[in-house]
Amino acid sequence: MQSDALVSTDVHWSQSRGCSGELTFLIPDAHLPSKASEVGRDSDGDLVVDRRDGRRAILRLEVPKASTPLQTVGLQVWAGALLLADFLLAHPELFSGHIALELGSGTGLAGLCLARVAKLTFLTDAEPSVLQQLQANVTLNASLFRYRDAVRVRCLDWFQGVPSKEQDANPHGWGPEDLAALQQVEVLLAADVIYDDDLTAAFLHCACAILAQAARACSLYLTIEKRFNLGFGDQEPRAQMYDDFMARVKHGCHTADHNLRGRLIDITSLPQHFTVERSKHVELWHFELVTAGG
Ligand SMILES: C[S@@+](CC[C@H](N)C(=O)[O-])C[C@H]1O[C@@H](n2cnc3c(N)ncnc32)[C@H](O)[C@@H]1O
Repeated sequence: MQSDALVSTDVHWSQSRGCSGELTFLIPDAHLPSKASEVGRDSDGDLVVDRRDGRRAILRLEVPKASTPLQTVGLQVWAGALLLADFLLAHPELFSGHIALELGSGTGLAGLCLARVAKLTFLTDAEPSVLQQLQANVTLNASLFRYRDAVRVRCLDWFQGVPSKEQDANPHGWGPEDLAALQQVEVLLAADVIYDDDLTAAFLHCACAILAQAARACSLYLTIEKRFNLGFGDQEPRAQMYDDFMARVKHGCHTADHNLRGRLIDITSLPQHFTVERSKHVELWHFELVTAGG
């Protein structure tokens, strides 16, 4: 794809909009005992959010663009973020009090849902305009977090690898406390980051390096969308980026001693918090690093 061609997500058109450029999401309130809100259907078959018990908080995202060049796709919300957010909202017990890091956060929807209950969450991205928007979205939602100062927005470019040096000059650079906390990460997140071959290789390398250096047990929750290319002639349409990602995972090559082992998470009964039709082409995976040959 040409780098100046515009791309757009379906999410913005389906999700209810607040004031211009803002999306609002009704989520369980982390300061109260959690009870998942579910989306049902009315007699016309339209999706309806059950708001009866009132234990809800509003997550607000400033999303300035409805379409962007590839470089700034992180200024939009993608379907993978909605699915990952649903999972995180449904399972606060898995992440409560943990240290977490999201790769390629974009507007930050998934990471913010985790940050409600996590002790510390790093929301990361590489694109300066995306980092700026991400910081604004963190500030907008500060009242949702159970822990004080629970979220830090940091620059993490997969091509640069895992940060190991302080970066004072960068407004989203890593300080000494960040670098120490990075070693303690227990949960990695990533939503819709598999859409370009070079990026996939860099992403996998970086994610595996973080998993490998983690001082505690650490695993990755990843959503991935199968985007089908039209086949030529009698060829079947193929989800090339998805297939390439799975092939890379299967053939290892992440660190000298480790491979990724993945498990597809069954989402059929996962409560849905967002009024957007879930695509059957978006999958949720859980990955762990295992010793090669193990
Ligand atoms: C399709 S968007 C997904 C954004 C968000 N996770 C979501 O699902 O709404 C891909 C994200 O990966 C980020 N990204 C792309 N290349 C990157 C790199 N080399 N290092 C870190 N992040 C990168 C983009 O800036 C963007 O935020």
